[in-house]
Amino acid sequence: MKKIVTIIGARPQIIKSSAISRAVQSDFKEVLEEVIVHTGQHYDENMSKVFFDEMSIPTPNYNLQVGSGSHGVQTAKMIEGLEKIFLDEKPDGVVVYGDTNSTIAGALAAAKIHIPVIHIEAGLRSFNKAMPEEINRIACDHMSSLLFTPTKTGIDNLANEGFSLELAPKATIDSPNVYHCGDIMYDNSLHFSKVANDFQTVMEKESLVKDGFVLMTVHRDSNTDIAENMEAIFTSVNKLSKKYEIEFVLPLHPRTKSKLKTQLSDVAYTEVINNPLIKIIDPVGFMDIIALEQNAGMLVTDSGGLQKESFFFKKPCVILREQTEWIEIVNNGNAILTGADPDKIIEAFDSLYEYNNFTYPEYYGDGNAAKFICQKIVDEIV
Ligand code: UD1
Ligand code: UDP
Repeated sequence: MKKIVTIIGARPQIIKSSAISRAVQSDFKEVLEEVIVHTGQHYDENMSKVFFDEMSIPTPNYNLQVGSGSHGVQTAKMIEGLEKIFLDEKPDGVVVYGDTNSTIAGALAAAKIHIPVIHIEAGLRSFNKAMPEEINRIACDHMSSLLFTPTKTGIDNLANEGFSLELAPKATIDSPNVYHCGDIMYDNSLHFSKVANDFQTVMEKESLVKDGFVLMTVHRDSNTDIAENMEAIFTSVNKLSKKYEIEFVLPLHPRTKSKLKTQLSDVAYTEVINNPLIKIIDPVGFMDIIALEQNAGMLVTDSGGLQKESFFFKKPCVILREQTEWIEIVNNGNAILTGADPDKIIEAFDSLYEYNNFTYPEYYGDGNAAKFICQKIVDEIV
């Protein structure tokens, strides 16, 4: 029996972890024991608890309750708490997801005390080190023993950074093994889309009809912390909603919600708040977000997760970023990068809105990434 400690903390990691927990329970419970640690990075009920309830994620064995803070304060508190747990639990490996502060804290705390790090969603790059996530993901990859990349691009990025693609019999920090295994979020989207309709409540609650609205999210610091960018994004949405007479539904991240009034000019704020076609709601659970993604005509987002889910559910997407780690969907024409440039946002929306001849190649695997990952952990972690 091997023991892994799984680190989660931010909303997308909680969601991602359900794929591995499900695989452990269904196929690996005789050979793999999972201990779950929630760092407490996200703590609002609708950013954390809701997902445990509806996605049957096991209750974390530990919650560090670090809460919000600057990068240094938040990450340091996590490292301190995680190191203690790792010393007590003595796991064979530590699993980290993605690129948040919880990811880098887990990787650093484990690698320094010689516990192998298993990085799920390895190899993704935006090539913009002004993003905190880019620093987290590069550093994490370079202290990992097993790296699982969702895309072919991820493999190429790792090879370009000097990772050998030859496989060693056992994965270690000095001879890491890199696998292209597909995206565990594709596993999750396939799994939960079969049941989401039965459990969602948002369509009726918000009086929404299929293809009658645009789903939008914004939370990236480059958009929320620069007033000019917030202004550009919300002014563009205001214009687009009126031009197309279509509703924009925004389950708004608490970070963005708290900054609407302070970052927007009085004019823009008043227009947004009084525009009946802009519907700002609280963050929703995963069944509800799937329902929104399936029923929206289009997505506008700066979220990594939503970009990809737009592709899974065959919806075009305006990406409110200058670069993306999920470059395949841009290269294939399913999504357009606009940053926070108002002209580009409107132009991209115009060109995607009417077009309906998109193709959807299998960039993200076959829905079995989690089982592949569990098997490699069992076989290769020393
Ligand atoms: C974090 C990740 C980001 C990821 C996002 C997913 C880092 C550096 N960033 O960004 O990569 O895309 O999570 O959602 O790790 N807040 C609440 N309630 C909560 C959580 C946060 O009100 O439950 C507010 C607080 O004001 C906090 C702010 O949101 O200061 C930012 O939270 P934080 O976790 O630091 O970063 P995110 O923007 O959520
Ligand atoms: N999500 C959700 N409810 C919401 C908004 C997002 O369940 O109200 C899900 C979304 O489907 C995706 C994940 O949260 O799976 C993405 O998280 P987020 O956008 O916070 O972070 P990112 O992916 O950008 O790191």
